[in-house]
Amino acid sequence: MASDVLVRLENLSKHFAGGIVGLNDINLSIDEGEFLSLLGPSGCGKTTTLRVIAGFEAPTEGVVRLDGKDITPLRAFDRPVNTVFQDYALFPHMSVAENVGFGLSLRKIAGAERRKRVAAALDMVGLADKINQRVQALSGGQRQRVALARAIVCEPRVLLLDEPLSALDAHLREQMQVELKRLQRELGTTFVMVTHDQTEALSISDRIVVMNKAEIEQIASPSVLYDQPATRFVAGFIGTMNLLDARLAGREASLLRFTAGALSLNMPASGAVGLKTGDAATIGIRPEDIQVSPNRIEGSVAVTVESVVFHGRSLRVHLRTQDKYSLTADIPRQSELAAMTVGEHFFASLRPGAACPVLPA
Ligand SMILES: Nc1ncnc2c1ncn2[C@@H]1O[C@H](COP(=O)(O)OP(=O)(O)OP(=O)(O)O)[C@@H](O)[C@H]1O
Ligand SMILES: [Mg+2]
Repeated sequence: MASDVLVRLENLSKHFAGGIVGLNDINLSIDEGEFLSLLGPSGCGKTTTLRVIAGFEAPTEGVVRLDGKDITPLRAFDRPVNTVFQDYALFPHMSVAENVGFGLSLRKIAGAERRKRVAAALDMVGLADKINQRVQALSGGQRQRVALARAIVCEPRVLLLDEPLSALDAHLREQMQVELKRLQRELGTTFVMVTHDQTEALSISDRIVVMNKAEIEQIASPSVLYDQPATRFVAGFIGTMNLLDARLAGREASLLRFTAGALSLNMPASGAVGLKTGDAATIGIRPEDIQVSPNRIEGSVAVTVESVVFHGRSLRVHLRTQDKYSLTADIPRQSELAAMTVGEHFFASLRPGAACPVLPA
């Protein structure tokens, strides 16, 4: 992947009437050819970010650059940017070909050239055989593809997608995620996708921007976001994470020893460099890193099973310690512990070697 910056958002803020802050001092570089996702809870500013890049919304402060050039004053139509909207915004009375060719007509591209490009775009999304259909006669997934074809036919430098798959059922959605990724790779176009589905963001993005309350919390690859969340918000938002209030009890060689109530947590000393013995911190532990055992082992804590939820390949169990910490653990189905039932007593500990993020208290 090329690492030339294509789009830069510099100190971008957007204030709406009534003192509503849509964006607060956003700084973001989007690389040429990357698949970037904006992820965050409802109202955090994802759509506003897209609308400012597209030119549908003028920022209150800050600059949007494309190839280093300030495009903030340019109209949406004059930007090499196209958008796929959540509701697709297709023209219901037009055929598939007319919908896809619409943007080309606006750009005065007609005749054979237009027909060729419409056919190529429909081919890319696997809808070549539907070219003369009316969009009303299409399924939700097919409409989604028409919207994609309509957006790529003008060969934008940046394709913006606002929750493009949210109207699809779970199965089709997973299939379209793969297709979207394939399309992006084949086109080599920069995709910026908004989603509030973290699984979707983790599975198809090169990098993810996690937003919260009009600001950026972290920008990182899916694996870094999962393994090294920078803030408590990200740790709690990406996947399932036990967030334990802990204290640094001591250091031994390259290990840090934290205590969270009666639970003792030994972990590699990376991160947490500035912490002193006695300092408070939040430790993030993934359910797969909680080890459950019938017998007391070093550092473990007695727990009671509060619930057992079937998750296919594993069981997700909620455990409570005597000092009222709650822990979520995943138990592989082939484990002999998979027969555990609510109310049973076990011992929980941190899986040796687990590298857990240490976050500010
Ligand atoms: N035109 C507008 N006028 C006033 N407030 C707005 C306008 N557009 C967005 N906002 C506010 O700005 C904030 C960010 O909105 P935005 O639509 O960007 O959120 P979002 O992250 O896309 O959320 P969702 O996941 O629900 O789509 C919200 O508080 C929203 O109410
Ligand atoms: Mg939105």
